[in-house]
Amino acid sequence: MIALPFNLDQVQAGLTAKRLGTRFHYFNELDSTNTHARRLAEEGAPEGEVVVAEQQTHGRGRLGRRWVSPPYVNLYFSIILRPRFSPVVAPQLTLMAAVALTDAVAAFISKPPVIKWPNDILVNGKKLAGVLTESSCSSERIDFVILGIGVNVNLMHGSMPDTIRERATSLLMIRESVTSREEFLRRLIHDLDRCYGILEEQGFGAIAPSWEARFGLHGQRVRVEMVDGSFTGRAKGIDRDGALLVEKDNGEIERIIAGDVIPVEH
Ligand code: BTN
Repeated sequence: MIALPFNLDQVQAGLTAKRLGTRFHYFNELDSTNTHARRLAEEGAPEGEVVVAEQQTHGRGRLGRRWVSPPYVNLYFSIILRPRFSPVVAPQLTLMAAVALTDAVAAFISKPPVIKWPNDILVNGKKLAGVLTESSCSSERIDFVILGIGVNVNLMHGSMPDTIRERATSLLMIRESVTSREEFLRRLIHDLDRCYGILEEQGFGAIAPSWEARFGLHGQRVRVEMVDGSFTGRAKGIDRDGALLVEKDNGEIERIIAGDVIPVEH
């Protein structure tokens, strides 16, 4: 496969999104698109600007993990958002992005993508994409949110490092053909723009059913791993704040705000 650099004109041509994708900052290499987007936001960049990199030297995942970011094959980008709602609902943006991502992915493959709380997109049980949101808030308002997304597009199984080879997949592996990164990014920005608009105008209640419908662990036994310990229970879905609800064996419902959720055998 010949890996070509991004053609941003192709992304922008036909992009009908209203608020997102107003301007693209393109780099061959960055430490992390989230870090660069945060710098731009701190300097006053408006909502909707997108930072795209062909490769990241310090791509970041959730819970301090690394995001494998080899050049020319995948998508690594971050969007600056300046939502007009209160900081308490900021976590809903991550869930909104997961819904938009599954919509975009579903337009390219026939197998339905599944969400693993809060933000992993899985196909055939393997990770295809992830979302990392980072916010800057005062007590009563959100200053900005950086919405960072990584998608394994044309990454070959043989090119994956050992650390992710058994757990990750790519559109190339699923479709068995190359996907245009430009087409995928355009579609994804369109879906993000649409879902972001729904969240702002109608609230999380209008997004939650789509998230629940794609949540792969509904009713399943899971192990929840948090910084201060772990427990097992049954995944029940999410509440209005986007927290995961897990029913413990004693019937108590635990709200999970940060952690990892792993399915376990019965
Ligand atoms: C996760 O699943 O843990 C989240 C992964 C998010 C990766 C993306 S790639 C673009 C953006 N820049 C980063 O450093 N991370 C996000």
